[in-house]
Amino acid sequence: MSLDSTPTATLTVENPASTGTRTPGSEWWRSAVIYQIYPRSFADASGDGIGDLAGITERLPSLAALGVDAVWLSPFFRSPQKDAGYDVADYCDVDPIFGTLADFDALRDRARELGLRVIVDLVPNHSSDQHVWFQEALAAGPGSPERDRYMFRDGKGENGELPPNNWPSVFGGDAWTRVTEPDGTPGQWYLHIFDSSQPDFNWKNPVVHEEFRRVLRFWLDRGVDGFRVDVAHGLMKKEGLPDVAEAGGSDNIADALMSPDDVPWWAQPEVHEVYRDWHRVLAEYEGDRVLCAEAWVEPLAKAALWVRSDEMHQAFNFSYLGTPWKPELLRSVIDESIAAFTGVGAPSTWVLSNHDVVRHASRYGLPPATAVPNAGIGPASDDKPDAALGLHRARAATAMMLSLPGSAYLYQGEELGLPEVIELDDHVREDPTFHRTGGESYGRDGCRVPIPWESDAPAFGFSGTGSSWLPQPAEFAEFARDRQDGVAGSTLELYRAALAIRAERDLGMGSLTWVDGFGEDVVAFRNGDILVLANLGESALELPAGELLLTSNPLVDGALPTDTTAWLAV
Ligand code: NOJ
Repeated sequence: MSLDSTPTATLTVENPASTGTRTPGSEWWRSAVIYQIYPRSFADASGDGIGDLAGITERLPSLAALGVDAVWLSPFFRSPQKDAGYDVADYCDVDPIFGTLADFDALRDRARELGLRVIVDLVPNHSSDQHVWFQEALAAGPGSPERDRYMFRDGKGENGELPPNNWPSVFGGDAWTRVTEPDGTPGQWYLHIFDSSQPDFNWKNPVVHEEFRRVLRFWLDRGVDGFRVDVAHGLMKKEGLPDVAEAGGSDNIADALMSPDDVPWWAQPEVHEVYRDWHRVLAEYEGDRVLCAEAWVEPLAKAALWVRSDEMHQAFNFSYLGTPWKPELLRSVIDESIAAFTGVGAPSTWVLSNHDVVRHASRYGLPPATAVPNAGIGPASDDKPDAALGLHRARAATAMMLSLPGSAYLYQGEELGLPEVIELDDHVREDPTFHRTGGESYGRDGCRVPIPWESDAPAFGFSGTGSSWLPQPAEFAEFARDRQDGVAGSTLELYRAALAIRAERDLGMGSLTWVDGFGEDVVAFRNGDILVLANLGESALELPAGELLLTSNPLVDGALPTDTTAWLAV
């Protein structure tokens, strides 16, 4: 089914998980732990080496056993997969590599049986260049209504041979590509903030708004509990599409990209009207559905604008994700997060890993100066993570995160302590970042390697045929789920225990109070009757009286060692 096809019969599915009277303030998403599934790397039932929906359905019980509340599926829609599915050719169909709509329905039903909610990914900033609208735009020529659904402009220079402005693509190179007109002459340019295969929609055109309302309703009718919204700070571009410096940003494009607030393609005020509209669409449906913004904007007070009470419900807390393992910085980002989000009536969210950043088990093992998302590990970098240190700190960081009030996001494989896979042959790398930067940046393949389930099975249980779209390193055997299942002290059991206590004591709906007296190097707070102590100092910490519920690593001589978090009932 294509985006602008004539209306087809819609299937409306009752969503028992989401029905019931709305009670503002007690919606499930305020405290939920949401597990991100990256479909191509989770579980492959077909055996072609690419994960699929049927594979996910088979493995869902392990997520219910982990204790999460919901799953968010990265895109599984029809797509040429130039950006691993974030280049959507048909928003209302499943790509054959992942299965069919019937497979999606089966996944949704199984999730419901297991008490898991399902969130899907919506990619509204751009489509694939294979989308029927873009193909129609190419065929229709300049000035046509078909072109007006995207961002086509004439070029500069005598013959239009220069791009319309100096905007760069996030993935490297220019954000403009010139097309050949239907008559064979070099023609207009189209904007693509990401890869050239991902043309940006024109959100000033009401037709685009109408189409996305249709897409939202298609999936809501199919019973989804909500949407993670890709590039939610994009969509609207500054009127006139000025050069970066003209719009007030640095004229050094590299600097401008580091302060995304100042660039004319992000965070334009008109974008909020789109989310007010979508809020109303979700409100047409029973129960509590959620919109979660992927908006890389800082400071947090600005990100909170995306979750005002009539807009989205949650926004990813990328400031938290990017905070180095330093007690004073952690205290201040936690304070800032809670103040910013609760200030607009939204829960704070917490996240440490996703499919776009270096896995936190490796990030925390890098020297502090390189510990930034999406960077630090590349061919030009001498810094390779200290794996043991990274995992040790990652466990402490997770134990801290899961004790915080609000909603938390987990990324598949972090519950196994998986590291970033750094050593991949260049020819297997698929991330457009790698190719568009001429290999200068490794990009994100390292956090997307298919995850291990059984240490002795082909492809570690990812795929029965042993095939895997990115090669899995031999060391994945020791991280496999079956090696950790039921093993005291394993990372998997740490996650399970933390999630169980979190649920039992309703920590997600709790509140945080800082506790003094443990020294500058200890992040110490209470959430309800739980005292959380994260020792980032060099010396071990004597624990106060209380029932020890959990430690991220074992105590040493009864004391809390460095880089370790403890939960005590007091
Ligand atoms: C953000 C997604 O998380 C990322 O994976 C993707 O490449 C870009 N948006 C473009 O859609």
